[in-house]
Amino acid sequence: MRIESGKQIEHLGAVRIHPVRRVLELDSGTIPSQFKESVGPQRIERDVIAGIQQKMAIVLPIKGEGLKVFEGVLCGVPHDCLMIVVSNSQRGEIDDFKKEQETLNQFCTTTRRNAIIIHQKDPCLGQALADCGYSQILDEKGLVRSGKAEGMIVGILLSLVLGKEYVGFIDTDNYIPGAVWEYAQHYAIGFTLSESPYVMVRILWRYKPKISGELYFKKWGRVSEITNRYINHFISTKGVFETDIIKTANAGEHAMSLQLAKKLTYATSYSVETQELMSVFEQFSGMSPILDKAVAGKGVDIIQTETINPHIHGEKGEEHLIQDMLMPSLSVIYHNPLCEDTTKELITKQLVELECISPGGEVPQLKMFPPPEIAILRSWPLS
Ligand code: GDD
Ligand code: MG
Repeated sequence: MRIESGKQIEHLGAVRIHPVRRVLELDSGTIPSQFKESVGPQRIERDVIAGIQQKMAIVLPIKGEGLKVFEGVLCGVPHDCLMIVVSNSQRGEIDDFKKEQETLNQFCTTTRRNAIIIHQKDPCLGQALADCGYSQILDEKGLVRSGKAEGMIVGILLSLVLGKEYVGFIDTDNYIPGAVWEYAQHYAIGFTLSESPYVMVRILWRYKPKISGELYFKKWGRVSEITNRYINHFISTKGVFETDIIKTANAGEHAMSLQLAKKLTYATSYSVETQELMSVFEQFSGMSPILDKAVAGKGVDIIQTETINPHIHGEKGEEHLIQDMLMPSLSVIYHNPLCEDTTKELITKQLVELECISPGGEVPQLKMFPPPEIAILRSWPLS
């Protein structure tokens, strides 16, 4: 693959935020070029990408998606990655989870690969998490709570237990298997661009087309545009230069080194991606005392890359976007201990304008989950 060179990196204490890099070639070939490699774009060899993918788990959260679409997603995940499907689909008389199991089983048999599938509400999973003291993620019945973030955390824990080094997330309502494949390539190349073991790779879709009569290649979703604006405002208040560096505040498609993933605090449901950034800033920007000296020494890289494939997925309506995604995303910025008054005021004004809260109303606070490493440390205490 060939990717644009990184331009100006923004520093926030030990955190390095890289500007979006565009992928230029999905395949940069194997034959040494007769032309001198230019200084700018970087070429990343296939075997380097494969080497990382062998150490990477791809977590596929699913809740009631069409089986054909799910199967297409499976086809797009590179063979060397371990797939971990975390489902919260319907069980009972009409058992969607069973159908997902069968689809995965058949796929793995014909393609000669291994994968894991687990239901988020499996009582054994709830019990195991209670036993290792990670009960914040459980509901009153002792089962893992519903939500995409909750499924992702289960995926992170399984990746850790299985000894993987990296974890990437890909939604299962993606209609373009080629885009799925591209995300997994981006994750791998993102990891090669950092020398730190603490890395996050976040994907910016080149286009997110709207299909209403005719196809229109829309660049920005409304939610991401607004969340990016406030997170950038938050960062700008920490220095004297205004910035618009963050373009991926809601990036559902993203990956992390497990060394980093296990240290972050997560927020429930669809606010998870914004909270990951806020957690990095809170823990490693130096604005609060940095407790983890190892991370402070190496630094954390936030790498953003732009795809070539467009992103086409199931659309769930305006109400879902505002209530389930935008409000929670702004809430985690607002309630972060580092958020100062001007950003808070702007967020409140925005939420009132969108009629998410009434004038004078409080910005709701979300449920948070502690770093997954506490579960791992309690189940396998280090000697
Ligand atoms: N395991 C699990 N548990 N999976 C779930 C759950 C759950 O409770 N709820 C949803 N999912 C799965 C869906 O089946 C889908 O594969 C994926 O999580 C994303 O859910 P969607 O409902 O399709 O989210 P979206 O398309 O509105 O938003 C996506 O893109 C946003 C950026 O535009 C998500 O990835 C967001 O997190 C992201 O911010
Ligand atoms: Mg979706």
